[in-house]
Amino acid sequence: MVAQTQSREPGTPRHVAVIMDGNGRWAARRALPRHLGHRAGVKAVRATVEGCARRGVEALTLFAFSSENWGRPAEEVSKLMQLFVEAMEREVDELSRNGIRLRFIGDLSKLQPHLRDGVVDAEARTAGNDRMTVNVAMSYGGRWDIVGATRKLASAVAAGTLLPEAIDEASLARELALGDTPDPDLFIRTGGEQRISNFLLWNLAYRELNFCDCLWPDFNDAELERAFHHFAGRQRRFGLTTSQAFVV
Ligand code: FPP
Repeated sequence: MVAQTQSREPGTPRHVAVIMDGNGRWAARRALPRHLGHRAGVKAVRATVEGCARRGVEALTLFAFSSENWGRPAEEVSKLMQLFVEAMEREVDELSRNGIRLRFIGDLSKLQPHLRDGVVDAEARTAGNDRMTVNVAMSYGGRWDIVGATRKLASAVAAGTLLPEAIDEASLARELALGDTPDPDLFIRTGGEQRISNFLLWNLAYRELNFCDCLWPDFNDAELERAFHHFAGRQRRFGLTTSQAFVV
């Protein structure tokens, strides 16, 4: 699947976060049921994982299912869960062969037992891989994440192992689901909406946002390249005046 990693060029993001939006509209435009849009989205997931690994990205975080998505029609939720199970069963070995670690973040207690078992198994089977980590956010919400981190700190205060005045941004950040991972450098959202939609709220506070009109199933390596190119351009100007940026 994944070709050799190129050495990471300057200006390449280390951590990319993606909201994969537009599956439903992609299906509607073809007069197909929504779940077939999600199914078509798996190909774009594969292309994105492959493209990021090839470019030397260290972490890719994909928003697969939000805390709010539980409110969708039961049939769509059930078809999506089925798709996650199938995708994991089909892809885990290939990901592992390519040195990719899979990790799941979110309120996994809400998943059906067979999906939760699949998640635990996929994490265990890929745990030793270090080429790139793919974090799949499932039943995830940025506010849920911040509340969880706050609870952990509050428990430590209640247990007498942490002083309230010792709580700072770094200590809270460490308790988040991605507490061990540097914040995303680049955020991509497909589907034309310009919102963060309760994704990594804390982690994206200072980050580059890239919105793309294409619907997720149409996202491909050329779209990824465009987002990286935009990011590299922004990086080159970072903190400089326009005239400084043009000094060679
Ligand atoms: C949002 O599009 C997309 C989702 C809620 C599901 C994303 C899932 C996949 C791409 C399936 C594969 C994922 C993995 C990790 C194997 P939408 O339904 O809100 O689209 P719309 O805005 O056009 O209605």
